[in-house]
Amino acid sequence: MEFTTLKVEQKNHYSIVTINRPDKLNALNNNVLSELRQAFTNISTQNDVRCVIITGAGPKSFVAGADIAEIQKLDVTEAKIFAEFGQSVFSMIEESVKPVIAAINGFALGGGAELAWSCHIRICSENALFGQPEVDLGLIPGYGGTQRLPRLISSSMAAQLLLTGEKIDAAKALSLGLVNAVYTQEELLTKAEELASRISAKPAMAVQNVLKSLSATRQTGLNEGLAVEALLFSLTCGTEDFQEGTSAFLEKRKPVFHHK
Ligand code: COA
Repeated sequence: MEFTTLKVEQKNHYSIVTINRPDKLNALNNNVLSELRQAFTNISTQNDVRCVIITGAGPKSFVAGADIAEIQKLDVTEAKIFAEFGQSVFSMIEESVKPVIAAINGFALGGGAELAWSCHIRICSENALFGQPEVDLGLIPGYGGTQRLPRLISSSMAAQLLLTGEKIDAAKALSLGLVNAVYTQEELLTKAEELASRISAKPAMAVQNVLKSLSATRQTGLNEGLAVEALLFSLTCGTEDFQEGTSAFLEKRKPVFHHK
């Protein structure tokens, strides 16, 4: 499939997915969401891709939200389908067994913030601005904002952001733990690629099983989560890379992983 709203570049063992509607500040319309779903479906079958970076085209915006022009036309029935479709795409990203890094290069508002919340790791540039301004449109978030944001920060702060629509800058997002690091705009993609390279070099089965186990923290209670972790731990012990990693340690040499 030829993408019209995304740019997908395959680098050495990781992919960069760029949302590419800079004239609309990379707002998410139906096309972008369909293409994101297709891009992640493709990536899931590409064995040589072990990590993904998502970013936005241009110097101003990661994603400035769902496309307000599209939302405005929705009736009540269509709006439910619209929200469920966006949620399914973001859940697919969150449940990806290949780590997804959001490189947030500007506005991350509404659906853009929700996209960032569904990624496994978030870093941003100094000009990043985060917010859930749906309330100012007479709306509520529909792509998971009311569910994921309170799982990332305190419920009190999440409620404030969701109820006031206030926007927070990169420094505040860092202080809340919403992003891991803040870089200059020029540095951001390089830093994201360094992180993607580091993760891609780790044994893929161990990386996948960390993500599956982290998924259990979202989907289950502690005891079920511990049971999932024990199962994944045992399965990881059956991998070639486990033999290699532990042998290399005991033999005082560098491991050579084959991602099996
Ligand atoms: N949906 C549709 N179009 C959007 C958009 C969105 N969420 N965000 C920005 N755009 C479009 C603008 O309509 C404008 O298009 P035009 O040039 O055809 O008029 C273009 O992107 C540039 O935006 P503009 O508002 O001129 O840029 P700005 O720098 O003055 O302001 C923002 C940037 C992000 C503050 C402002 O665009 C904004 O508030 N966007 C909406 C954010 C939002 O509420 N998101 C949640 C949606 S549920």
